[in-house]
Order: sequence, then C-alpha cells, then structure tokens
Amino acid sequence: MVSVHFQNCIMFHQMAGLSIQSPLTTISVLVFHLVLIPFSGGQSQLIGSSQPIVATIGDDIILPCHLKPAEDVAAKTLEWTRSDLDPRFVYVWRAHQELLDLKNPSYLGRTSFFTDELKHGNISLKLSRVKPADQGRYKCFIPEKEEESFIELVVGK
Ligand SMILES: *[C@@H]1O[C@H](CO)[C@@H](O)[C@H](O)[C@H]1NC(C)=O
Repeated sequence: MVSVHFQNCIMFHQMAGLSIQSPLTTISVLVFHLVLIPFSGGQSQLIGSSQPIVATIGDDIILPCHLKPAEDVAAKTLEWTRSDLDPRFVYVWRAHQELLDLKNPSYLGRTSFFTDELKHGNISLKLSRVKPADQGRYKCFIPEKEEESFIELVVGK
C-alpha cells in the first residue's frame, strides 16, 4: 500500500515534469496525498446491520455481515463472537472449515455459513432454532483485516 502509493507519487511527478527535490514538489506531494488517500480504497469495511435483528423462539435466522468491497474470504479466519459469553465463540472458520474447539456449546449444531457466499465476502451467519439465550450483541470479525461489525439479536416470545 505504502510502496504503491510512493510509486504513484513518483509517476505523478514524472508526469508533471517536476524534480523530486523542488519545494513545489513537496507541496504537490502533500496535495496529492490529501486528495488521493481518501479514494485510494485501501480500507475495506465489514457491514452488519444498524437495526437489531428480531426473531421469535424456534426461528431460523440470518445474522448479516459482509465485506465491502466484496472479496473472497473463504481462506481467511472468520469469527462470530459474543463478548458476554464464555467461551465467546459462536462460530469460527479457519482453513476452509469450521473450527469447533473453541465453540460455545450453546450453539453446537445450530450455526452455519453460506459457504458459496464466502467468495463474495459474505460471512452472514445462519442460526437455527433460536432460543431466548441467543439474544445479545454479536460481533463478526476478520482478524487479518482488523475489521469488525456488531449485530444485535432480539428474541421475542
Ligand atoms: C449473504 O448471504 C445470505 C444468504 O444467502 C443472503 O441472504 C444475503 O442477502 C447475502 N448478503 C449479501 C450482502 O449479499
């Protein structure tokens, strides 16, 4: 990212016919950075839901979460957690499969990914047979990208 940026700068300077040392160049480097960095798209974002997901006991639901811009995340470590639980792991995906070691037993057999969606950056979680204890604040998280998003689940009676 940084080196690409630096290369862009050099290209920019060559195009503009400026020598690297001139004060004008320093200013143009600054301007270039200020203008371009917000649009250079280095940072992706995890999108959850700003509204709570409302479910009834026994429902099968989807907790939405996707990476924007879309990119294939099937090979990455992906996590769904609830910080109020111990263990906090609701669903962990590692090396192309679910990692069960850390999973909170309350969610055993009730969670899954839409595995065909992972290549589109969609890491929405399917939760089956919702129970009252499922109510809470879920976090979807991609450690490698340091990206996270929170999704609230409300369980009605
Ligand atoms: C992610 O996948 C789920 C399940 O197929 C789907 O309902 C949802 O619309 C998808 N989200 C996006 C952003 O494509």
